[in-house]
Amino acid sequence: MLTLQKDELSLKIRELAKEKKAIILAHNYQTGEVQEVSDVVGDSLGLSLEAKKTNARMIVFCGVLFMAETAKILNPDKKVLLPNPAAGCALANSITPESLDDWMQRYPDHTVVTYVNSSAEIKAMSYICCTSANAVSVVKSVPSNKILFTPDRNLGSWVKKQVPEKEIVIYDGDCPTHDVLRGPDLIKLKERLSHAVVIAHPECREDVLQIADEVCSTTGMISRVAAHPESNLFIIATEEGMLYQLRKRFPEKEFVLADGCIGCRLLCPYMKATTLEDVFHALSEERYEIKISDSIVRDARTALERMLAVPRD
Ligand code: 13P
Ligand code: SF4
Repeated sequence: MLTLQKDELSLKIRELAKEKKAIILAHNYQTGEVQEVSDVVGDSLGLSLEAKKTNARMIVFCGVLFMAETAKILNPDKKVLLPNPAAGCALANSITPESLDDWMQRYPDHTVVTYVNSSAEIKAMSYICCTSANAVSVVKSVPSNKILFTPDRNLGSWVKKQVPEKEIVIYDGDCPTHDVLRGPDLIKLKERLSHAVVIAHPECREDVLQIADEVCSTTGMISRVAAHPESNLFIIATEEGMLYQLRKRFPEKEFVLADGCIGCRLLCPYMKATTLEDVFHALSEERYEIKISDSIVRDARTALERMLAVPRD
């Protein structure tokens, strides 16, 4: 199978998906060839909504583990496959049930709001979930004024700025892919490309977000580019896979990836773990299936459903 040309493999994947009544969902950070073979490409929120409404028998999730788990929690009766089990997430790994329990004991009056980049167990311990696309609305919607925001400190401090009326305690996790970028590096790039509009993901550090013209989720970047018809040059501060969708949708515009430290790129090894071959094997062998205990599904689903009931930012 590995000897097949990429386009033959893509064709076989599409045939198999049809035969098995499967939907292929892909995150914006996946490789271009995986995005192309998928039914839907989107951000965490958009893909959760797709997973919730699909009639497909099986969901093949080309993203990372927490995303496939979210799809499973929202569709407990469907088969959800993660094509490469090595596709984890450093941010999700930065919080464990034990460390969250420790923080909850230190802040017993605080309501736990958890970014979806977390395990099913962490979601099950939380009152409500949020994504980068709805974090501000979610925090505003919570009845309590005392919030424990987990696990991303950069998204947490960005939300805290937008919602100053609430007391927000922030857990100390981060995404190493985004956290590598520093404000001074971005300033240097902006000086070179003085006409560029800077669009950053809220997992970037505070000094980066201060410089950005727009801060939004990955799919939000598509609408923010469209909102600047006067500009032909954009600096994008997020994982490099995002540039594939942006260049595809706006071929007349130029997109430059923000530089990290010397020798570093904004590249997520987990998001790049999934290959076309993995997608093919996932479909043909129906591997690797996401399994979550009923009690975790029940509690995590409550936190996710609360989030999905909140109108978007
Ligand atoms: P989005 O929800 O904006 O797609 O981001 C997910 C993610 O993992 C960012 O690192
Ligand atoms: Fe996780 Fe960061 Fe990769 Fe997103 S970019 S999946 S937060 S490690």
